[in-house]
Amino acid sequence: MNKIQIDNLPLIYPLPAVLMGTMVNGVANYTTLGNCGIMSVEPPVIYVSSDKRHHGNTGVRNSQRFSVNIPSTSMAVKTDYCGIVSGLSVDKSRVFETFFGGHAAIPMIRECPVNLACEVITVVTVFNMEVFIGKVIETHVDRDCFSGKWLDTKKIDPLIYCMDNRYWSIGCEVGRGFEDGKKYRESSPQSERHQPDSSDAPYRK
Ligand SMILES: Cc1cc2nc3c(=O)[nH]c(=O)nc-3n(C[C@H](O)[C@H](O)[C@H](O)COP(=O)(O)O)c2cc1C
Repeated sequence: MNKIQIDNLPLIYPLPAVLMGTMVNGVANYTTLGNCGIMSVEPPVIYVSSDKRHHGNTGVRNSQRFSVNIPSTSMAVKTDYCGIVSGLSVDKSRVFETFFGGHAAIPMIRECPVNLACEVITVVTVFNMEVFIGKVIETHVDRDCFSGKWLDTKKIDPLIYCMDNRYWSIGCEVGRGFEDGKKYRESSPQSERHQPDSSDAPYRK
């Protein structure tokens, strides 16, 4: 590949756009975030990185709880709306239908196929951002998003945010985790150190 060097950017895209749900002064608020990821599968720990000045951050700071809701592509307009208006000036509680699991401080979005209720375990400050690291304490999934026993990515149809500032839908399956590398392993003369196989996959059957 013929490379050029450009301005420094955190180009870890594509990312699923998510909606962080919080209660602020008794009202549900939804904040659109791209900066969200997994820190640990077992136990399930995730992070969201959100600007200190966001209305949603006040809710997390006060309750030490938040939700992460995964919107489908059909929710692009409402998701983008929650990323361009602040709960500081607009009530976003009626943009979606809110439901609660076992915690009154964790509003979740019924239309989103996946909802994670989280409890903060640590907060890291990075310049203007508060990175809330949260343990997942409830996981809600739309019944229609399964194929057999397994969650079906196509049915979840996550809204993907990319480096071109566009929303995308997921493409085609191109391989299997903890499996495809075996083909290379078998043809490679590397030494036999720890060689994970599909039994190490975090989401195996
Ligand atoms: C696609 C998209 C991704 C965004 N990602 C982030 C993010 O990762 N972190 C952040 O602090 N703000 C992010 N924003 C901006 C906030 O969503 C926006 O400032 C919002 O109005 C804050 O809402 P609140 O004040 O009600 O919490 C994003 C916005 C969009 C449209």
